[in-house]
Amino acid sequence: MEARMRLDREFRIGDIDRRLFGSFIEHLGRAVYGGIFEPGHPTAEGQGFRQDVLSFVRELGIPLVRYPGGNFVCSFNWEDSVGPVEKRPTRLDLAWRSVEPNLFGLNEFMAWTKAAGARAMMALNLGTRGVDAAANLVEYCNHPGGTFWSDLRKRHGLEAPHGIKLWCLGNEMDGSWQVGQKTAGEYGRLACETAKAMRRVDPSIELVACGSSFPAMPSFPDWEATVLGHCYEEADYLSLHAYYGNKADDLPEYLADSMGMGAFIESAAATCDFVKAKKRSPKTMMLSFDEWNVWFHTSAEDAHADPWERGPSLLEEAYTFEDALVVGCLAIELLKHADRVKIACLAQLVNVLAPISTVTGGTAWRQTIYWPFLHACAFSCGSSLDLRIDSPSYESRRYGAVPFLHAAAALDEEGGRLTVFAVNRAVEEGLGVDIGLAGFEGWRLVEVLEFAGFDPKAGNSAAAPDAVCPRSLPGGSLVEGGHLRVELAPLSWNVLRIAAPGS
Ligand code: AHR
Repeated sequence: MEARMRLDREFRIGDIDRRLFGSFIEHLGRAVYGGIFEPGHPTAEGQGFRQDVLSFVRELGIPLVRYPGGNFVCSFNWEDSVGPVEKRPTRLDLAWRSVEPNLFGLNEFMAWTKAAGARAMMALNLGTRGVDAAANLVEYCNHPGGTFWSDLRKRHGLEAPHGIKLWCLGNEMDGSWQVGQKTAGEYGRLACETAKAMRRVDPSIELVACGSSFPAMPSFPDWEATVLGHCYEEADYLSLHAYYGNKADDLPEYLADSMGMGAFIESAAATCDFVKAKKRSPKTMMLSFDEWNVWFHTSAEDAHADPWERGPSLLEEAYTFEDALVVGCLAIELLKHADRVKIACLAQLVNVLAPISTVTGGTAWRQTIYWPFLHACAFSCGSSLDLRIDSPSYESRRYGAVPFLHAAAALDEEGGRLTVFAVNRAVEEGLGVDIGLAGFEGWRLVEVLEFAGFDPKAGNSAAAPDAVCPRSLPGGSLVEGGHLRVELAPLSWNVLRIAAPGS
């Protein structure tokens, strides 16, 4: 099969925010306990942070980590998680029906993000709590000193404020599963008043209002319209969440899921713009896709998990090669919407729906989805280019014609780097692609990272940690007469690294 792709140095979708490929750590299952934090583990250092896990996190180069939930946050008292560890209470976590010992909390997380080279995105409890606890938390984290909460932080050994800039106003507040679920009107008012109080403490913060929990919620997009009707001027971002899966074991249909993500982003943006028009506001609301991933392998068994365990094995998806291709397609979709989606978090990071898995007391390894996520983190710099794609397609039940070729491109002018991310969705056929590049004469294809050739159901494990991983192929060809030609293997994720002359 043959496809054509056209890109022009001057035709840009928008700047790619560094926070577009962030991640997420929730107090859920073994994400924290036995994941990032395990005192006594052979690689644990200092505060009990597993160094084997940290070295993978650093390799990913994640810019941002959302914390501490998720559903967990909606019945969490942040005060339980600070101060001397021996005085912290053990609590029932109502979201996941686990026991939370509070051995790892807010200040440990901030130390961990520092060690990981990432920034924090802090979520607030707007389920069981509200304005007062939120404002106090901002004071504890960001106020320099001389007040009750900021001095308490100092007494906890942290002289300098954390300076946390990005905050989520609750989590999935429309969900019936949420402790403290709200109607859109109740939540919109609460988000507005909480935002006002938090900003009085620290006017420099940015705030994310909760959108719908997933696009199939019957209340989407009325929820967004009502919520933003109350807090459009107070919020900086609207959140989107979506998980995908191959329950029907239909690979072509599964690979089309990124089209659903694109449609969701566009509907959410349109709803924001509707509110903008109603309010005659000069402000354009940006989007925070702060939970996205594949989630379906473990749903059935998790429903029968025993309650009230500490660090239970929950949501421990064993990802396959086909899941990695879908994650690649979703990453491409985020890049294609870089003008509106400024923040996104792969949910999650370690053990729970995760690119990194561990054995408690044992080894850590990279799952299949680690690889496209790593590439997206590493090479999504500068501007997202507006590609024109002409590709043969196949019919999907839900989305109609789905092009076999799915691609996005990032141009880092300063670094002289152009990166094309491309998936060939065809299960059996290779795809020859003629790439027309306007404004890149003399640039060179320096490397192709190719993830291909595996059984769709193959994955990595503690016993075979590197069974399914990409390979690096030398580039060599020059952009001549405005063209490059590449061959994409069937079912493949490809990263074409193109460099300016002399760089
Ligand atoms: O990421 C797992 C869960 O999925 C989160 O806690 C929740 O926000 C979402 O429903």
